[in-house]
This record gives sequence, structure tokens and C-alpha cells, in this order.
Amino acid sequence: MALSSSYLLITTILVILIFVSFSNAQPTSSSRPQGVVLPVTKDASTLQYVTYMKQRTPLVSESLVINLSGEFQWVDCENGYVSSSNRTLSCSGKECPWISGASCGRPPRPPGFQPCRGFVYLSNQGVFASDVVSVPSFINGSKTGPDVAVKEFVFGCGSTSLLQGLAKGVKGIAGFGPFQVSVPSQFSLALRIPRVFSMCLPSSTEASSKGAIFIGGGPYKMRPGIDLSTSLSYTPFYTSLVGPNFTSGYYIQVKSINIGGKKVPVVSDNTTFDSLGFMKLTSISTLIPYTVLPSSVYKPFISIFIEKAKAMNIASVAPVAPFGACFNSRNIFITHTGGLVPEINFVLHAEKVAWRISGSNSMVKVSDTVSCLGFVDGGEFANLVIGGHQLEDNLLEFNLAKKRLGFTSTLPRQTACSLFMLGEKFLAAT
Ligand SMILES: *[C@@H]1O[C@H](CO)[C@@H](O)[C@H](O)[C@H]1NC(C)=O
Ligand SMILES: *[C@@H]1O[C@H](CO)[C@@H](O)[C@H](O)[C@H]1NC(C)=O
Ligand SMILES: *[C@@H]1O[C@H](CO)[C@@H](O)[C@H](O)[C@H]1NC(C)=O
Ligand SMILES: *[C@@H]1O[C@H](CO)[C@@H](O)[C@H](O)[C@H]1NC(C)=O
Ligand SMILES: *[C@@H]1O[C@H](CO)[C@@H](O)[C@H](O)[C@H]1NC(C)=O
Repeated sequence: MALSSSYLLITTILVILIFVSFSNAQPTSSSRPQGVVLPVTKDASTLQYVTYMKQRTPLVSESLVINLSGEFQWVDCENGYVSSSNRTLSCSGKECPWISGASCGRPPRPPGFQPCRGFVYLSNQGVFASDVVSVPSFINGSKTGPDVAVKEFVFGCGSTSLLQGLAKGVKGIAGFGPFQVSVPSQFSLALRIPRVFSMCLPSSTEASSKGAIFIGGGPYKMRPGIDLSTSLSYTPFYTSLVGPNFTSGYYIQVKSINIGGKKVPVVSDNTTFDSLGFMKLTSISTLIPYTVLPSSVYKPFISIFIEKAKAMNIASVAPVAPFGACFNSRNIFITHTGGLVPEINFVLHAEKVAWRISGSNSMVKVSDTVSCLGFVDGGEFANLVIGGHQLEDNLLEFNLAKKRLGFTSTLPRQTACSLFMLGEKFLAAT
């Protein structure tokens, strides 16, 4: 009896050991890191945000445009994708059903290997595959450690034509959406780290100005004494909308907008507001450069901003497209959070929780003498979409388990997203 139970125990331990050593997570150092960190740059011509990781065997560094709401990562497999470790996913495998964009045709299926296809997203020949990816580990809230590899990272094999419109030189798109096969979900599952990622986008297009995406949660230390995870405000997000036109992404509740303390007057009709009184379908996007507002909100929004700016002796000048309000920048004092202009507040799920937008996130320099309010009119049927310029130098923490968004609002300049001290190797990534 004693013999057979210790035999059982030993077998159990062996099985666990084998399972652990064959599992997908392969940290190259013995200590488990806090998470992983990816560098982020801003492309000057498209204003897209680009991240970097190594993929394939042997490893090749690739740059990918960030799609915050994207479901998965895809890369151009038509042009030069050579790897000894790539594997086409099978329709009968466990991963294919995880991908909403995948298709296997209608059953009954013919016998034999059926590839997991992605017709709509990857063009006609596209299949889903898995391969090795490798990224720097993040240690102690402040530095990079050895690279960690995920062996069977799921991605889409797209065609070269899908790169059209993307930043020059990129190899595909990295999706960070609330999905099972998005980049943060896969790293969290494989490395057994929390389902939390944080995005700190750089405001400069200089190659040396790198922001960061941390997967696995905080702390996020900037310099001795500053941990950005202690300066977060939180608001819930919701992710999917059911109905005929299913879309997924990160949606938040915006109740009202005020500028310099004055509420932007809007007609609360059912085109712009939902039944709970929040602006309908407010989302966050890294693929649009400036926040979009519906016309019914944009018009009063710029007039209140102009009124409040005038009270600060900032003169309006003729607008420069695509912006609707521009100013003489000689009238604007520069402070540690950018130009001293009326502060914009998005009031969120609760009256006391606001996303503050100061000068560096509101104003866009269009010439030596003109700065414009960096928001655009999306037309009558647009929803509020918070875009790139308003996301920069603001740490956004997406907690996928708690469905909660943490944000710092505009960071003071001495703590910009390009000032994490992640080391030279990190800064050299291209
Ligand atoms: C980004 O992701 C969304 C949501 O999955 C998708 O609808 C959109 O087409 C993607 N954009 C690009 C450029 O891939
Ligand atoms: C994997 O690589 C091989 C050899 O380069 C290639 O024939 C195959 O199509 C690739 N598979 C995928 C899914 O990219
Ligand atoms: C982590 O940070 C603490 C305090 O900042 C320090 O004492 C410790 O040595 C650090 N550990 C590593 C592995 O860097
Ligand atoms: C769904 O999309 C179709 C085609 O884009 C559009 O005609 C229709 O009005 C949309 N339905 C809703 C409820 O938004
Ligand atoms: C919006 O309100 C109008 C007038 O009050 C009503 O006729 C319409 O059905 C409402 N639409 C929705 C989608 O609730």
C-alpha cells in the first residue's frame, strides 16, 4: 500500500516535470521574469506605431505595426519567410478554434491534413501558422533581462499585398486586442504571467526615442523614486459588441467632456449617446493619428476651446486641415506638460474619474507660428475614437483579466515614454 502510493507520487512528479519541461514557456534564465518588454517607435510618414520582435529559426528581427484592437499577429509570408520551425496549423488542432478570423470550411471535411485558413484577413492563400518568437524579459520593474522565447506562437501568414499603407519596412501587424491569440494573451499564457499589458507610446519620431509595451504588469519604474503603476487612475473597459456587425476592441465610458472647467454642451440624443448616458461606442485606436469626434460634439468642442484659449490671450488663426481650430503659437507658453492651453477632461464612468489632456497631448505644431488642436471631425455618424496623439506619453495599462484600463494622463515631460531606462540593447532594436 505504502509502496504503491509512493510509486503514484513519484509518477505524478515525473509527469509534472515532463509536462513542465515540454511546455511552451522557455525562459532562458533560471529565474522567472516579471514579464516581457517590447520597444515602440513612431513612423514619421504614416504616424503609425511600430514594435519589434524576433521570429523564426534562425531568429530574424521583424518590425510590426501595432493594432491595439487587432486579433492576432500576421506577417508577410510570401516574401522571404524562411524558418525551420514554422508549422501550419491544422483544422483539427486546438488553436484554430481560438481564432475568430480562421476558417476550415463546412464539415464534413475530406480526410487528411486541413490547414487552418484565414481567407478574409490574410488573402486567399493565407493560413495560420506557429513559429518561435523571442523578446527581452523585463526584470524588477526597471530593466531588461535575457530574451525569452515562446516556441509555438500563433500568427497569420499573410501576403505581401497586405503591407500596403503600412509603415515602410514593416513585415506585418501585431494585434493587442482582447482575444485569445493576440500578442499579450499568447505571451501571458505561454510564460504564465498576468494577463496585463501596458503601452507607453513615444511622441517623437526620432529612432532613439523609444516607448515600450510591457506584458505581465507593473511596477514600471522610470528613475529612482518614480513607479508609474502608482499614478494610475482606473476605468472599466468592455470588449465586444454583439449584434449584426460584431466588432471587438477596447471600449470605455465617456460621460462628458469639459475644457478649462466648462462642460462642452451637447444634445444628448440617441445618435451620440447610449441608454446609460455615455457617448456611444467610445474606443481607443493606435491606427488613427488624432482623436475623432462626431460632428455634433466637435463643433461645440472647438468653440469652447477657442473661447477658453482667448481668455488666456491665445489668438485663433485660420484652421489648417484636417484640424478645425488653430492658434498663434507665439501666444502659448511652454510648460513641463507642453503648451499652456486650456486643459481638456474626458469625464469617464464616474464623475470623479477623468482622463486629463494637457498641451503636449492636445496641440499639434503645424508650422513655426501655428499650433492646432489635434482633434478631427469624423462626421455625423462617427463615434468617439481616442487616437495616437492623445495616447502618447501616457501609460495605459490594459488588465485583460479584470477588464480594467489604468491610465496616467499626460505625463510630465521628465517622465516621458521614451525615458524608461531599459538599457542599450533595448534602445538599439530596429
Ligand atoms: C485592426 O484590428 C481590427 C479589429 O480586429 C480590425 O478590424 C482591423 O481591420 C485591423 N486593422 C488592420 C490595419 O489590420
Ligand atoms: C514554412 O517554411 C517552408 C520552407 O520555407 C515553406 O515551404 C512553408 O510554406 C512555410 N510554411 C508557412 C506556414 O509559412
Ligand atoms: C530590484 O530592485 C531592488 C530595489 O530597487 C534592488 O534592491 C534589487 O537588487 C533589484 N534586483 C535585481 C535582480 O535587480
Ligand atoms: C452593418 O454593416 C452593414 C454593411 O457595412 C450596414 O449596411 C448596416 O447598416 C450595419 N448594421 C448596423 C446595425 O450597424
Ligand atoms: C432615437 O430616438 C428617436 C426619437 O426619439 C426614435 O424615433 C428612434 O427610434 C430612436 N432610435 C433608437 C436607435 O433608439
